Amino acid sequence: MTGPWSVRRLGEEDWQLHRSVRLAMLLDTPGAYGSSFGREVGFTETTWRERTGQPVFLAEREDGLPLGTATLLRPEPGTDAEIVAMWVAAHARGTGVADALVIACRDRAVAEGAGVVRLHVMLDNPRAVACYSRLGFVLDGTCGDVPGCSRMVATTHGIAPGR
Ligand SMILES: CC(C)(COP(=O)(O)OP(=O)(O)OC[C@H]1O[C@@H](n2cnc3c(N)ncnc32)[C@H](O)[C@@H]1OP(=O)(O)O)[C@@H](O)C(=O)NCCC(=O)NCCS
Repeated sequence: MTGPWSVRRLGEEDWQLHRSVRLAMLLDTPGAYGSSFGREVGFTETTWRERTGQPVFLAEREDGLPLGTATLLRPEPGTDAEIVAMWVAAHARGTGVADALVIACRDRAVAEGAGVVRLHVMLDNPRAVACYSRLGFVLDGTCGDVPGCSRMVATTHGIAPGR
């Protein structure tokens, strides 16, 4: 990956970009997201607009090439914030994009008043577990309802870039 890049929050008007990136990541890593290209390719514009209304962050090169994405699910009062749909394009892995996306989610979580951020990861995805661990998340032993899936948690002040 060469050239300047940055992270921005998508707006509802970016729903087609969000759709393209989401479908690309479902094809790239089908086992990581509890969903599938086949399921989501048929979603309507209304659904994509609603989804893009969540805090969806996109890392992109200055020329508009998408590098990665992450979404922060807004916490209900009294609950943790949750990072979902985290993906870094293969050509951009190991470059700090993952850190920047998680930090953007952390900052949004703080703005939403959350003190804890959680996420779910497949335990047979050691690269993801290592990445989140470096950023300050710990496996808390709680399994989700998907076999092989575990929860990781961090306080917002404990999340920091590790590279
Ligand atoms: C998971 C993902 C977002 C992480 O982003 P990334 O840019 O690859 O992550 P980083 O390179 O910053 O960190 C990966 C870490 O895993 C380590 N690693 C790489 N391959 C590994 C392996 N096979 N086993 C253990 N650790 C591994 C790296 O050394 C690095 O750790 P370090 O910084 O302590 O050296 C990205 O790989 C991705 O999008 N993967 C496909 C989709 C996916 O799995 N999404 C996550 C869903 S929860």
